[in-house]
Amino acid sequence: MGVFLTMEGPDGAGKSTQIELLRDYLSRKGYDIIVCREPGGTKISEAIRQVILNKDFTEMSHMTELLLYTAARAQLMEEVIRPALKEGKVVICDRFVESSAVYQGIARGMGIELVYEINQYAIGDTLPDLTIMIDLDAKTGISRKKEQAELDRMEREALDFHEKVVKGYREIAALHPERIYKVDGHQTIEEIHKKIAAAVDKIIS
Ligand code: TYD
Repeated sequence: MGVFLTMEGPDGAGKSTQIELLRDYLSRKGYDIIVCREPGGTKISEAIRQVILNKDFTEMSHMTELLLYTAARAQLMEEVIRPALKEGKVVICDRFVESSAVYQGIARGMGIELVYEINQYAIGDTLPDLTIMIDLDAKTGISRKKEQAELDRMEREALDFHEKVVKGYREIAALHPERIYKVDGHQTIEEIHKKIAAAVDKIIS
């Protein structure tokens, strides 16, 4: 079996940059790596992403949102993640079930039990070997996003929502310290990378 790594954090935490650095680090070590993102990563999941993040769909119910993220995840598991793990690859996924636990379970108030229960149907027993969580305050995260491009439906939520997300990540990380590695996103890119690489080394070698 391969190794399943997921990268989590609030909007603007710097996940993509860290995923690229981790990919380079692990490929220099000779690992066969696949990187995917959520919601997305397959033709169907990317189509679901267009629906979820469409800034005009402001009437979307919280349950629809939860089910759509879970549906996108089910397809990605089936088509990409499980086959890659079977082939012995290292899978790095940009967001996974912890995003649903935090955004839908905590920030939207649906409850983390419900989120994990529904996600059982999508992920079964394929859980990440390690989840890396970049911790960053909401104001910094959202102002980074604003500099980049037009904000999507989730990013347009009020600061109060993003503060709940940040707090939610801290709660989830504290609940599962054995499988979630929390790293302070206010450090330099290089410092964060070194810490992530060391945490991954521990479970991979
Ligand atoms: P994306 O542009 O991928 O954000 P980022 O670059 O910050 O990862 O958009 C994904 C958005 O969807 C992001 O705001 C987090 C949210 N999200 C959930 O609310 N629940 C989920 O299960 C997932 C995977 C993402």
